[in-house]
Amino acid sequence: MPTWVAACATEDIDVEDVIGFRHEDRDYAIYRTAEGDFFATDGHCTHERTLLCDGLVMGRVIECPKHNGRFDIPTGKAIRAPVLEDVQTFPTKVEDGTVFVFV
Ligand code: FES
Repeated sequence: MPTWVAACATEDIDVEDVIGFRHEDRDYAIYRTAEGDFFATDGHCTHERTLLCDGLVMGRVIECPKHNGRFDIPTGKAIRAPVLEDVQTFPTKVEDGTVFVFV
């Protein structure tokens, strides 16, 4: 059953950066944008399952570190080849300095 899970403290993620979060054998990527918004996606690129937490955040875009495919962070939409399949996104909320992900 889906539930809110505490992923990290807001200060754990630099502005315009991403970190990895593992919960119940699944990897997630947690993002903080330049505007201070937090987002979460599946932790793996849909191309060859590279961890997106090792990628580069540019505005609201994550670039995969392996072949430079890109996703729109808020929607998970694949926006640059070789990525063709969107990455799953998850709702986030911030309470008392903690980032929660709805998994
Ligand atoms: S593994 Fe991400 S673009 Fe290839």
